[in-house]
Amino acid sequence: MCYAIPGKVIEIKDKIARIEYFGEQKQAINEIDELCVGDYIYAQGGYVIKLIPKPEAESILATWKETFFDLQEVDLRLSKMDLEESGLDRKLTVILDKAAEGIQLKEQELLYLLNLKDPKELGLLYKFANFLRQKHLKNSCCVHGIIEFSNYCSQGCAYCGISTHNKDINRYRMTKEEIYQAADIAINKYGFQALVLQSGEDSHYLVDDLCEIVSTIKKRWPCLIFASFGEVGLDGIGKLYKAGARGLLMRFESSNPEVYSKLHPGRDIKSRLAHLEAAYKLGYLIITGGLVGLPGQTNEDLLNDILLTRRLKTEMYTFGPFLPHPMTPLADTPPPLTKDILKVLAVARLADPVNAKILVTTGFETLDPKARELGLMAGANSVMLNVTPEKFSKNYTIYPNRAHSSENIQSQIETTLTLLRSIGRAPTDLGVAL
Ligand code: 5AD
Repeated sequence: MCYAIPGKVIEIKDKIARIEYFGEQKQAINEIDELCVGDYIYAQGGYVIKLIPKPEAESILATWKETFFDLQEVDLRLSKMDLEESGLDRKLTVILDKAAEGIQLKEQELLYLLNLKDPKELGLLYKFANFLRQKHLKNSCCVHGIIEFSNYCSQGCAYCGISTHNKDINRYRMTKEEIYQAADIAINKYGFQALVLQSGEDSHYLVDDLCEIVSTIKKRWPCLIFASFGEVGLDGIGKLYKAGARGLLMRFESSNPEVYSKLHPGRDIKSRLAHLEAAYKLGYLIITGGLVGLPGQTNEDLLNDILLTRRLKTEMYTFGPFLPHPMTPLADTPPPLTKDILKVLAVARLADPVNAKILVTTGFETLDPKARELGLMAGANSVMLNVTPEKFSKNYTIYPNRAHSSENIQSQIETTLTLLRSIGRAPTDLGVAL
């Protein structure tokens, strides 16, 4: 099973390639010198990742052609809705009508949605978010892999189970060779085209080491790499880009400076935002977002989190629940409810309907085993599978009882594909629409 559909290059102008997929055209940034019109390629996140030999591409396309349109039909059926029939609160339907017409909602309207409590109204909000997702982005669902290569961390974040607060944890650090092996398996055995490399803020790996890891993987097996090593400094962000990283995964956690500084001793949100802004300017694809359910957090804060994510020109929104870890200062703070997360995913979709990829996080799946389907039916369109070797990933305990932590990669892929098929989604990243 592959995680992208081959596209045919129909035009190349400077660094932009125009690509055709079953009659639809997209564009992608091309960094492959020898690329020619007529070639078949894989693209991810708006980047051309690699060339595919014509016979291989044609055979993959032939198998996809049948399912591609079937899946789109299932998705279209499941995401249909009729606001007139809803019979619900007028104010709510007026807001949703506006969004359906493509009018950008005002902050007060988004806040009104975040404040909804009635289960019927919430159901309508989720359904509408799913409708918008289908309308603008069709049925593609990003499936990225993540390798968590070190759980050493120098930071004392109040919520995090791999922070310095936790003295009762088996710390591990994969060697470079172990990281390459995990990447090789993810890319070549399982077909991942986009990988997140993540670690705690582990000073053992200098920026130059991280660069070497990124460039070695890219040289050996073309793919899209997201760096997620914490605050490596603006210099570091630049070096990693040169080494070949094209994405940055870094949550700002909370846009409220007071909440932020309480949770991150010695850290300032300005530094985090400076990293994200610098990365975007360099050309990185940004994955960011925050934690939902933090102590002292209000719905106004969550609205600001969504608006900040949008302002940062984020490629993929990542919002997940705060989950209490027993070895942290927030051990006794209760987690949020499923509906609190679904609301944030749905409102994020309404705030950024046309472009946003919205992730169903593993944290959400840990909170609620049904989260993946619920989230994908409430505006989300991305998932991330853990491709860290099991003997390591069981110690990446940012929160307890992580979903899928004892499930092997093959089985994770199978359950994901079964779910995606059942709701008409294609596990693919079609890049940027023209
Ligand atoms: N609950 C939920 N998410 C957490 N993270 C860290 N600790 C927790 C927790 N207790 C998330 C942070 C970080 C990501 C790598 O893990 O948001 O950005």
